[in-house]
Amino acid sequence: MYEQVSHSLLNDILDELKPHIRKEDLRHFYTRLGGNFYAIYSLFHHLYGSRDDFKAKMIKLVEVMANQYIKRNDELKFLDVAREKDHNWFLRQDWVGMALYTDGFADNLAGVKTRLPYLQELGINMVHLMPILDCPPGASDGGYAVSNFRDVDSRVGSLADLELLSASMIKRSMLLVLDVVVNHTSNEHEWAKKARAGDPKYQAYYYTFENRDIPDMFEETMPEIFPENAPGNFTWDEEMGRWVMTVFNDYQWDLDYSNPDVFINMLDIILYWANKGADIVRLDAVAFLWKKVGTTCQNEREAHLILQLMKDCCQVTAPGVLFIAEAIVAPVEITKYFGEDAVIAKECEIAYNATFMALLWDSVATRNAKLLNQGIKSLPNKLDRATWLNYIRCHDDIGLGFDDNDIRLADYEPSAHRRFLVDYFTGAYDDSIARGKPFGLNEKTGDARISGSLASLVGLEVAQEKGDLEAIDEAISRILLLHSMILSFGGIPLLHYGDEIGMLNDYSFLQDEHKEGDNRWIHRPKIDWDKAALRHQHGSVEQRIFDGLKKMIAVRKTIPAFADFNNRVLLDVENPHLFVFIRIHPEQPNNFVLVVGNFDATSQYLDMKDLGRRGMFQYGQVKDLCSGESPALFKDQLVVPPYRFYWLTDQQSAAGI
Ligand code: GLC
Repeated sequence: MYEQVSHSLLNDILDELKPHIRKEDLRHFYTRLGGNFYAIYSLFHHLYGSRDDFKAKMIKLVEVMANQYIKRNDELKFLDVAREKDHNWFLRQDWVGMALYTDGFADNLAGVKTRLPYLQELGINMVHLMPILDCPPGASDGGYAVSNFRDVDSRVGSLADLELLSASMIKRSMLLVLDVVVNHTSNEHEWAKKARAGDPKYQAYYYTFENRDIPDMFEETMPEIFPENAPGNFTWDEEMGRWVMTVFNDYQWDLDYSNPDVFINMLDIILYWANKGADIVRLDAVAFLWKKVGTTCQNEREAHLILQLMKDCCQVTAPGVLFIAEAIVAPVEITKYFGEDAVIAKECEIAYNATFMALLWDSVATRNAKLLNQGIKSLPNKLDRATWLNYIRCHDDIGLGFDDNDIRLADYEPSAHRRFLVDYFTGAYDDSIARGKPFGLNEKTGDARISGSLASLVGLEVAQEKGDLEAIDEAISRILLLHSMILSFGGIPLLHYGDEIGMLNDYSFLQDEHKEGDNRWIHRPKIDWDKAALRHQHGSVEQRIFDGLKKMIAVRKTIPAFADFNNRVLLDVENPHLFVFIRIHPEQPNNFVLVVGNFDATSQYLDMKDLGRRGMFQYGQVKDLCSGESPALFKDQLVVPPYRFYWLTDQQSAAGI
């Protein structure tokens, strides 16, 4: 948009740019800067306009974007232009991701490179490397306490190793996802060290206070994220003689984004990793980016403005790069991280679907889809050109973040229901087959979350211990059922490493003094490659899970209706054990896939008459796209065996697919 104030400022800035920038051929850079400048200026002005040095900071911001553009290699610039043309590329059903810890998966980056064929065998074409940046040797919250944002941790390799891995992934058409921990740094980061040494410039990078007055005001309304390990939100730093805000662990210092230098530095870091080949950058803990006394310090409007500014700036330098918002917040808040508008107030193209994840776990415990249905019905619509990251397990705990009102509408009492779920998954409930651990137990509020590997949470650990073959079958069916949901829902499915071969809880963290206090390590395994080799042994648990997933992934990629163009219709069906939705081909409305999941231990029936009224399955021709079978129908009733899923088409649709 053309607007006089910002345009004349842009002219001034261009005149003042350093000579080496002016010499370069920056054609694409300038057109994109012109396109986004009004938004960039407005957002930057909103956040920092009252400062005397506003113009100097604006110049610095443009310089950062230009310098990183100059450093961006031709291959990546080519990809940017290609993705501008094909801007829906990430919404297609082609993508299937896996998140993994480099050391846990294959020791180091070179190891991950040699294991790429394994991932391809499964059908994975997007790899999220959990944090690999430099962090202190002791506790580092799994790499989320970064001490140097521009280097790879030597324990997993070097920048050169990452470049080799990225090159190999490009050849294989695989996407690379890297973390940038935008909300905080390690207390060992250079900025923190300078702040500790008394440098006021760097103290202004963080929230530091000489006494408890302001921290106490903050504490009145701020929840605790790790109440057991890191109670409170402030830590006294003896050397600095000041309190510092530490929302997560006491060694993770929160950055103060009301300081433009923090924003500019972090943008530079994001673009740096974009230039190292990240196709997608995962922005950690984005809900926490702005702190305000009297609030929970989550989901503040300014946090959204910061993300919009990051997106607008990234589009100027590296428009092919996408952002994932890691905002594990209430359902109504999550969708806001896509932005308010895909063109003028965009934020992150991708967000974790924590709501769907938690609802799926509810269905596992209750063996019905009552809350799942209700919760998805209430999930606000998301923007076009935005997509979910659908997952069952990740490296974090399972938070029961559904809406209380939805719980009531599903006929449960919220606190009793949450207690039941925690008891169920931690094995405290009589009938439970799960082996999870309570995480983040808050004595003051009674809240708790759940840790545990997928396989252990769905009963495989208990079943194998007992040698109960039927229970093993059931656990495998549950693993496949849950994956069938994330693979068909709409969005990018993200598998958690180890789940593809049914890795159980890993209790070795209890032997490590830096991990024993954080039971999320129970589901961050070291892959046992001998166990993985059992995927080739017919009838083994590993083979049944791996091949089941591999088949589903391959089939998903052939079903255009599974692309994410807001083309899902949830069906209210009478049977509460079934979760049922229709996915419609984005360009051919008559082509659809009916997704059915039975969360119960007994066979359930779906009444097909309603679908007939919608013009679907009129001729009683039903085909499951995944198995190729035609499931049993009895007098318009579709039989869905225990823990079974179907991806169904009728004859007409099958012809079009
Ligand atoms: C994110 C990460 C989590 C980490 C936290 C603090 O939520 O997923 O693992 O503990 O941020 O960095």
